Amino acid sequence: MALRHFLSLGDCSPQELQIIIARAIELKRQLRKGVEHQILKNKVLAMIFEKSSTRTRVSFETAMVQLGGHAIFLSPDDTQLGRGEPVEDTARVLSKMVDGIMIRTFEHAKLKSLAEYSTIPVINGLSDSFHPCQLLADMQTWHEQRGSIQGKAVAWLGDGNNMCHSYITAARLFDFNLRIACPEGYQPDAAILKSSGTHVSISSDPELAARDADLIVTDVWASMGQEAESDTRSEIFRPFQVNAALMSLAKKDALFMHCLPAHRGDEVTAEVIDGLQSVVWEEAGNRLHSQKALLEFLLA
Ligand code: CP
Ligand code: NVA
Repeated sequence: MALRHFLSLGDCSPQELQIIIARAIELKRQLRKGVEHQILKNKVLAMIFEKSSTRTRVSFETAMVQLGGHAIFLSPDDTQLGRGEPVEDTARVLSKMVDGIMIRTFEHAKLKSLAEYSTIPVINGLSDSFHPCQLLADMQTWHEQRGSIQGKAVAWLGDGNNMCHSYITAARLFDFNLRIACPEGYQPDAAILKSSGTHVSISSDPELAARDADLIVTDVWASMGQEAESDTRSEIFRPFQVNAALMSLAKKDALFMHCLPAHRGDEVTAEVIDGLQSVVWEEAGNRLHSQKALLEFLLA
């Protein structure tokens, strides 16, 4: 297969995404049955983390081990990247040694430069613009709980951030209707919004977005790198909190998702995230299975 990267969901066709999710479900079933794999035997994934992570780090590292390979954790604190070695040089060096690169960083442009100079697959483990690996897990979780998401109504409440952008891309590729409710001034990027056309609508009315929705999704109000804005955002975003009253507007069997980490009492109440409609733990666990399918797709 020609060199492929996964910088955003749009790097895969709708058919390929369906194949990855079906494979994720199969790999999860096999893991439970004790089936062992050597699909990535002797393959090595370099994982560059310029931001914190629990799920992404643990799921990628575990995924590589379970597929017979190995992962190396690289932090800017103890690599030359942190001392100013250009990302283009890092890409060329890592390409000579390992089989794939996963990077979590700030500017999406950096990720693109890394991919441009890399001769091995590059995976976006979260940038300021997108978080496509999380969407694989979210779509897998929906599929396991409810079947196809085609034609369903998904409500996004809160910030027009990296997760929101990936939901916008997903709406087009998985053919669902996304209703975004964001405060004025915190809407998603206009070009990304436009790219999904009629699949997405936007307002600043949380109730409008939530009414009759099949799935309600939210995320932190201040993303990594926006810590200084936390207090201001906390006030502005308050009406967008996902609480029991908001959930009651959605369909009776609506699900709740959140990529985590969550702040109970801010973007979601404890009652909702720890309640019966919440599938956040399945969603988090599926990071492992969907990324195993992605790694197999890109590296095997
Ligand atoms: N959802 C997610 O990506 O979690 P981490 O920041 O812990 O990796
Ligand atoms: N929007 C959040 C997602 C964390 C997984 C952030 O970028 O911090």
